[in-house]
This record gives sequence, structure tokens and C-alpha cells, in this order.
Amino acid sequence: MEAKQTSVLLIGILLVIVSIANADSSAQVLVKKVKGKKVCDKGWECKGWSEYCCNLTISDYFDTYQFEELFAKRNSPVAHAAGFWDYKSFITASALYQPHGFGTTGNKTTQMKEIAAFLGHVGSQTSCGYGVATGGPTAWGLCYNKEMSPPHEYCDDFYKYTYPCAPGAGYYGRGALPIYWQYNYGKIGEALNVDLLNHPEYIEQNATLAFQAAIHTWVTPMKKGQPSAHEAFVGTWKPTKNDTLAKRFPGFGTTMNILYGDRTCGKGDVDDMNTVVSHYLYYLDLMGVGREEGGPHEVLTCAEQKPFNPSASTQASSR
Ligand SMILES: *[C@@H]1O[C@H](CO)[C@@H](O)[C@H](O)[C@H]1NC(C)=O
Ligand SMILES: *[C@@H]1O[C@H](CO)[C@@H](O)[C@H](O)[C@H]1NC(C)=O
Ligand SMILES: *[C@@H]1O[C@H](CO)[C@@H](O)[C@H](O)[C@H]1NC(C)=O
Ligand SMILES: *[C@@H]1O[C@H](CO)[C@@H](O)[C@H](O)[C@H]1NC(C)=O
Repeated sequence: MEAKQTSVLLIGILLVIVSIANADSSAQVLVKKVKGKKVCDKGWECKGWSEYCCNLTISDYFDTYQFEELFAKRNSPVAHAAGFWDYKSFITASALYQPHGFGTTGNKTTQMKEIAAFLGHVGSQTSCGYGVATGGPTAWGLCYNKEMSPPHEYCDDFYKYTYPCAPGAGYYGRGALPIYWQYNYGKIGEALNVDLLNHPEYIEQNATLAFQAAIHTWVTPMKKGQPSAHEAFVGTWKPTKNDTLAKRFPGFGTTMNILYGDRTCGKGDVDDMNTVVSHYLYYLDLMGVGREEGGPHEVLTCAEQKPFNPSASTQASSR
């Protein structure tokens, strides 16, 4: 009798908590007009009166269970970063960039495709599935959060005055789109206002920061006058005549060109490129968008593209 009443009471309390949680996630959308343009503010996930915040936010169309499906093996006992990566870190990190269009540009299909594309890169760069039997490489994204046996410290003497290496620090690959070399830690640290030059280890200690750094890389052009991977993907980038001659079209292929250059692109259908593409297509399927949305070969891949930046040696493979 008493036990029954207790459980009724418990259920009552749970219902209240659930309804509070629901009220919180369907956060109030505030709308106003600025110079004839509709702008919105959606609380913590999309803040700051932006057009983009009037659209769905990432958590509206990409839920915890989908993150779990995409990165199903990341917490298995043999994974090298078990317990590190989670959905909440990704969404928390994305909130800084959603008001600027990350995952919030265009219609729902475009939005979901961008998340599949970004995470496709992340999955392919952090997978440990290559030697593992079960599931194949695409099931093992977010297996790493750092390079396991760095061959050296990635301290480039050329930048010794602009980005002096901290004594004892190693600038080997860390993160969701692994960062290599002290000058890259330095530059990203400046952008995020975190002292990564002196503390590169922060990236392997904090999943939110690791995702933040990766999204920063995705939305930032490598050089002035070039598109960011985000712009190249969602189509806000308009190719020049030269780009078209170099077979650089808006789409997934060009994001590989930007992030990896001639390590991956312009070499035909090589493994290194196909691995990235196959993660993207696998995630499109899992998210219910479908791999046919990946588009034709010349948009999906960079097999025939001329690299934007020949011999970009700064993003060595994490594998
Ligand atoms: C979404 O936007 C893309 C790109 O602008 C367009 O090609 C596609 O037809 C749109 N899809 C829907 C369902 O409206
Ligand atoms: C918001 O979504 C609509 C349709 O779903 C799309 O046409 C529009 O471009 C999006 N807004 C921005 C700023 O991308
Ligand atoms: C992890 O990084 C985030 C984003 O930079 C920051 O807000 C948070 O305070 C950090 N957490 C810890 C424990 O340092
Ligand atoms: C286009 O390519 C040509 C030849 O490679 C080069 O000389 C020219 O500067 C390029 N133009 C632009 C706008 O990049």
C-alpha cells in the first residue's frame, strides 16, 4: 500500500520534470524585424538575433539517439577515447556557430546534409575501424581523440617567433578534426580565446572545446579569398571561372579540397578520399536523408579537382 503510493508520487514528480524539460527544449522563439528582415532568438542554442535562428536548430532535427547511431562503437572497451565524446558536447559547441549558419542554413534537408557532412569528416578522421573486424570503419567514428604514437612533436621552427612552442608540449593530432602543429594550435587558440599554444592538451581533455575547434575549422577559410568548408557545402560560395576550370563545384568534394588539399584530392578515386565519402554517405542514410542526396560523383568527390592550396602539409592524417 505504502509502496504503491510512493511510486504514484514518484511518477508524479517525474511527469513534472519531463514537462519542465520539454518546455525548455521547445524554447520560446523571439522574433523581430530589423531593416525589414526577420530575425530570431531561440535561447541558448541559437542566440543573438539572427536570420538563421528563425530556422530549425540542430537539436530540432538531430537527436541524441542519432548521434548514438552514427558513433555506435565509440564507447566500446577497445575504443581509444571511450567515455570522452558525447552529444551534449557537440550541441553545446555548435551553439556558438548556429547563429552564423552552421546547421541552420537553407531548408531542413540542407541543414541535415551539412551535419552529416561535418560529422562525416569527423568520423573519418577519428575512426579506428581500419584494422577492426566488426562493423567496418564507418561504425568506428570518434574512436580517437588524439594521435596515439606521434612520430615527433610537430613544432615547426619557421614559426618560432610567431608561435613559440611551449617547453615539453606536443602538438600532435588532437580533436574531432585533428589539429597538428603548434601554429595551428596557436591560430585556433586565438580564435577561440583559449591558450592552446601553451596548453594543446586542453583539446584532449574537453570534448566541447574539441568540437568547438572542429566547427571553427569548418566555418573558417584556410586563406583569404577562399571559401570555408561550410560555405562550399551549403552553396553560399559562388565558384569563379578558375574554380570551375579546376572542377571545384559547391558540394562535399570541395570540403575535402579545403580541409585536406592534395593529400586527398586530384588523385582519382583513392582510398583516402573514398573513406571520407563513405562516412558521409553512411551518415546520410542513418539520419534518414538517404545517400542519393550526396549527389553526382563530380560534386560528391574531389577526385578530379585541383587543390586550392597545393601541398597543404598542415593537416597530416591521424591514421
Ligand atoms: C532544399 O534546398 C535545396 C537547395 O536549395 C533544394 O535543391 C531542394 O529542392 C530543397 N528541398 C526541399 C524539400 O524543399
Ligand atoms: C530558413 O529556412 C528556409 C526554408 O526552410 C530557407 O528558404 C531559408 O533560406 C532559411 N534561412 C536561412 C537564413 O538560411
Ligand atoms: C570546456 O570548454 C568549453 C568551451 O570552450 C568551456 O566553456 C568549458 O568551461 C570547458 N570545461 C572545462 C572543464 O574546462
Ligand atoms: C586564374 O588562373 C590563372 C592561371 O592559373 C591565374 O593567372 C589567375 O590569377 C587566376 N585568377 C584568379 C582570379 O584567381
